[in-house]
Amino acid sequence: MIYVCTTCKKRLDNPTKPLGLCPCGKPLSVHYDWEGIEGDIDVITEDHSLWRYKRVLPNVEKEDIVSLGEGWSPLIPMAHHIFIKDETVNPTGSFKDRGMAMAVTMAKAQGVKSICLPSAGNAGVSAAAYCQKAGIDCHVFLPETIPDSFKKATDQYGANIILEGQTISHAAHKMVESKKDDWFDISTLKEPFRVEGKKTLGYEIAEQMNWTLPDVIIYPTGGGTGLIGMWKSFIEMKAMGWVSGSLPRMVVAQSDGCAPVVKAFQSMEKSTEFWNNSETIALGLNVPGPLGGSWMLNVLSESNGIAVTAKESDLVELTENMKDMSGINASAEAGVVWSGYQSLIEAGWISDGERVVLFATGVERC
Ligand SMILES: Cc1ncc(COP(=O)(O)O)c(C=O)c1O
Ligand SMILES: [Zn+2]
Repeated sequence: MIYVCTTCKKRLDNPTKPLGLCPCGKPLSVHYDWEGIEGDIDVITEDHSLWRYKRVLPNVEKEDIVSLGEGWSPLIPMAHHIFIKDETVNPTGSFKDRGMAMAVTMAKAQGVKSICLPSAGNAGVSAAAYCQKAGIDCHVFLPETIPDSFKKATDQYGANIILEGQTISHAAHKMVESKKDDWFDISTLKEPFRVEGKKTLGYEIAEQMNWTLPDVIIYPTGGGTGLIGMWKSFIEMKAMGWVSGSLPRMVVAQSDGCAPVVKAFQSMEKSTEFWNNSETIALGLNVPGPLGGSWMLNVLSESNGIAVTAKESDLVELTENMKDMSGINASAEAGVVWSGYQSLIEAGWISDGERVVLFATGVERC
């Protein structure tokens, strides 16, 4: 296992302390030696959690794994070749558990005693739960606007909660100001393992589709770890010969109340610009200045993907429609995905008969 900078390509082989960003300030990505497992899906275990893919995840002893049973969520086939990945069934109610299981496992294995992160809500709940299980102190920085249900859920796992500002960006600034030296920062993409946990979404989709891949994946995008992680998984599976043929076209779906990736995509920029005065009821998508903006735009370009907005004013109704259609008690991020699907069908970007994966990333908490 080695670490490579996503931007300057510097390679870090045997780090002596838990790694954050590359010295150049950009995210690091984990690379593996696949020798001996090319074409060999038998390395997948019987676990009914994301740890079934342990062989393609960061190297950790079995007894060091911090797990609450995350992952291996259903992929539900619907009419019109739609499949819904139901991530609401994860231990704390969202897909954030995949990244947190991995990040907290690795942090613990590396001797970390305190963790901090800013969150739009679900990541904080999840980090609190995994840190409690691991016996690690957890400091969660949330916007003041956060609904009580998220605060309660985070508090229930014994985390220290600090409230600041209107969005995750303000909360993140506060964290940087007040961070102690021995707090390990697990903010989105500031350490390499949350992406590794999230990439299991891609492995599961491939396995659940019998080692074929969908034509299109529509992802509700905030910081982008799921989008980036899934794309990484497809490249890895192709390199190992686990899948063949074309890879899915990746779709970034955001609310028009906070759409920095859509704006950059449409104006053919290589990086995102901060989205001022962002507002959306899809709380996880209220990420006005994502660190991984350029990385997401690369994924869109490499996958022949696209970025689309949902109308914030339609979001309550869109979410209700998605809930009725799927029977899943999903949060508003799923309404953004549903809008993306409808607009791309209407525009002819998705054709009849193409297989499309939609996401219900989190449960409705309020
Ligand atoms: C329910 C839900 N969906 C989607 C997202 C966006 O995820 P990401 O930051 O990985 O793009 C979040 C993030 O908080 C979320 O809570
Ligand atoms: Zn670098």
